[in-house]
Amino acid sequence: MKRVLVLNGPNLGRLGRRQPEIYGSTTHDELAQACRDWGNRLGLEVDVRQTNHEGELLDWLNAAADEETPVVLNAAAWTHYSWALYDACAQLVAPLVEVHISDPTQRPEEFRHHSVVTPHAATVIAGHGIEGYRMALEHLAG
Ligand code: DQA
Repeated sequence: MKRVLVLNGPNLGRLGRRQPEIYGSTTHDELAQACRDWGNRLGLEVDVRQTNHEGELLDWLNAAADEETPVVLNAAAWTHYSWALYDACAQLVAPLVEVHISDPTQRPEEFRHHSVVTPHAATVIAGHGIEGYRMALEHLAG
């Protein structure tokens, strides 16, 4: 089975409790289970991880580059300013799909309008809630 990594960045571990009016009521555990179920139906083995530690995300991306694993990435706030993340994404070999639960480009804070991930992404899915992860897996399943 084709393996796909779903990597979630800072504060997404509090999904369901974090600003539900923006991010919805689904918890990270529920999201992870939904991704595994969607993946199963698409013939993908989905490994879902979340971290609040930037170096850990970089280590996972470096391993994905070595192993040529496709990645679904919601880097959360790091999306907007981490040049180390930009460099890590640049090294990926297999397709990268950028996902955001909200649509950062439509939010009032200027800092959300720029993404260091987008230049390396095969596609960007934003503003579709957690359904966006299903759309990203469908994209990777081809
Ligand atoms: C987010 C959008 C980011 O701007 C924000 O910092 C997040 C979540 C999203 O999924 O909508 O933490 O990536």
